[in-house]
Amino acid sequence: MTRLVPLHGGQLQQIAEAFGIPVSDILDFSANINPEGPPAAVVSTLRESLDDPSVLTHYPEIGESALRNAIARYTGVSSENIAVANGFVPLLESALCALSIRECLLPVPAFVEYRRTLARARVGAISHVLTPESGFSYDIDALLSGSHDAVLLANPQNPSGILCGRDVLLELTAKAAGRNIYILLDEAFIDYCPQSSLTQEINRFSNLIVLRSVTKFFGIPGLRVAYAVANSNASVALQEATAPWSITTLASRAVCAALSDKEYSNHSRMLNQDRRARLRKNLEALALCTESSAANFLLFRLPPYLDADEFWKRMILDHQIVLRQCANYDGLPDGYLRAAVRNDQENARLVEALAQTLARWNAKQ
Ligand SMILES: Cc1ncc(COP(=O)(O)O)c(C=O)c1O
Repeated sequence: MTRLVPLHGGQLQQIAEAFGIPVSDILDFSANINPEGPPAAVVSTLRESLDDPSVLTHYPEIGESALRNAIARYTGVSSENIAVANGFVPLLESALCALSIRECLLPVPAFVEYRRTLARARVGAISHVLTPESGFSYDIDALLSGSHDAVLLANPQNPSGILCGRDVLLELTAKAAGRNIYILLDEAFIDYCPQSSLTQEINRFSNLIVLRSVTKFFGIPGLRVAYAVANSNASVALQEATAPWSITTLASRAVCAALSDKEYSNHSRMLNQDRRARLRKNLEALALCTESSAANFLLFRLPPYLDADEFWKRMILDHQIVLRQCANYDGLPDGYLRAAVRNDQENARLVEALAQTLARWNAKQ
């Protein structure tokens, strides 16, 4: 029997099987992927690369210098500060191993794979619950008190989308350095607000490792590339802890093309900001209480009389719309769902479906 509620967003095959609907009928709001799709240059680069047999017959270049140079240009640091891997999870595994982390403080709710990765790496995980009442905010002293040697946190956060100011994160990193604590900072969604990134600060702090993704913002989760930005000693250690040839030549070329498309980046940021503001306003008009997100998704809370799991199922069965069911986020109270920000037409379909589901529910009471 297929599990009804997937571990992650975007598991459409699993949803289709569990609910008996074709994948092609589903409108997915559960994964936070840029609705514009990949930059055109990604697709043309992949097509052209297939005309070059060496892409398949040669091993990828082991130092990944072209990819690391492209990331360095994109982030404004030197290529010696970059380590790459085939996704966030392998990169985090490399960081835990390279830095010999023993025990990690985990502010929750957070990306579900953090805890699973720590467990696989046999690193102790200590949960620190962030509350909606405090706006899911990071409290520096609370994050640093204890015997842990690392803190794994995200900016913006997932699932809340809350952005923490650079000043707070810089103070946290400086104080953590004084206590020999590493800051593993996941900036998977920072491309939506790049001015808040800490990548420019890595040479000031030997305890700061910034982990970044190309999946969400460039709409290419199928290619599997992620990177770390850190001081040169740490990035060399991370790269050495990563399996060789983990990134295919095709993926590497496609990511180089994506990162150099500034117009796509600027346009995506602008579109997302406008669409997110409109969607948030429309959700609030339905009395769905949202968090103030800086990313391409919105976390919202249903009124307390509604059962979130039942509501999530009704949205699939009646409207073929999949939201992110948030019950498996540690530390998050009941009643939350998360919606990706898609294009205006799709967002309007979501709002209409939510309005109908709420109306039907209220009529039954
Ligand atoms: C906060 C966060 N970090 C990292 C990832 C994984 O990113 P990648 O696709 O680059 O492995 C995700 C995926 O959902 C995420 O939500």
